[in-house]
Amino acid sequence: MIDAQDVVVEYGKKASAVRAVDGISLRVAPGDSLALIGPSGCGKSSLLFAMAGLVRPKSGTILVNGDPLVRPRREIALILQNAGLLPWKTVWQNANLSLLLGKEYPKTTAAAVLDELGLGEVKRRYPSELSEGMKRRVGVARALSTSPSVMLMDEPLASLDTLTKERIQDLFLRLWAKHAFALVLVTHDIEEAAFLGRRVAVLTDRPARVKEMVENTSMGEQDYRKTAAFAETVRRLRAALER
Ligand SMILES: Nc1ncnc2c1ncn2[C@@H]1O[C@H](COP(=O)(O)OP(=O)(O)O)[C@@H](O)[C@H]1O
Ligand SMILES: [Mg+2]
Repeated sequence: MIDAQDVVVEYGKKASAVRAVDGISLRVAPGDSLALIGPSGCGKSSLLFAMAGLVRPKSGTILVNGDPLVRPRREIALILQNAGLLPWKTVWQNANLSLLLGKEYPKTTAAAVLDELGLGEVKRRYPSELSEGMKRRVGVARALSTSPSVMLMDEPLASLDTLTKERIQDLFLRLWAKHAFALVLVTHDIEEAAFLGRRVAVLTDRPARVKEMVENTSMGEQDYRKTAAFAETVRRLRAALER
C-alpha cells in the first residue's frame, strides 16, 4: 500500500523556488493500479520520485505499508524510460544488480523472473546485443527481482513502436495480476493509461494537482483495447486533458 497525503514538491530556495507538485493525495492498494497522465513538465516525475523516496517532499507525507517513507526502500521498485542498463554487464547481471550489490534474495527468483519475461535464452548477452523491447524487459526483470510490493513506472515504454509497446503492456498486465503489487504508472500515452490504470488521475499544468480522477473499472478484461469501455475511457481522458 502506498499512500501519499497532500504532497508538495519544490525545487530551489525561497524566491526562486519552483513548485512541481502542489498538494497531491492518492492511495494505491496491493493489486490496484493508478495511471498518472498530464502535460509534459507538469510534475509527474517529481511526484513519482517522491513516492520512490528519491525526492523529499517540501510538505505532506508518503506512507508505505503504514510507515513514513524517508529514503528508497527495496519494496518499492522504480522503472525508468531508458531501463538504465549497464553496457558492460550481461542481461543476467543487469537484471540482478541488487544481488551483485550484496543484497540478499533468492537466486531462484532471479532465474524464474528472466524466464517469465522471455529473457532466459539471452541472459548471457550484453545490452548492445538486444532489441529495444528486450532492453525494457530487462529493466522490468530488475524491478521485479526484489519482489516489490509497490511498482512505480515513469514512461517505461516511451519511444517504442506500437506493437512492441502493446506487447509489453500486455506483459505488465499479466505481471500485475500475478504479483499483485500496487502499480503507479506515469505516462503521456492516453491509451496506455486506459489499458493499465484502474483509475487514471489527470493532472493539471505545473504545479501538478489532480484535475480529474477517471474510473476505469473494466480494465484488465479480455481484449480490453477492443471494447467499448476502453474507447469510452480514452474519450473521457482526452476530454479531461483538453479542459
Ligand atoms: N532537479 C530539479 N531541479 C529543478 N527543477 C526541476 C528538477 N526536476 C524537475 N524540475 C522542474 O520541475 C517541473 C516538473 O518536472 P517533472 O516532474 O520532470 O515533469 P514531468 O515528469 O511531468 O514532465 C519542471 O518545470 C522541471 O523543470
Ligand atoms: Mg517526466
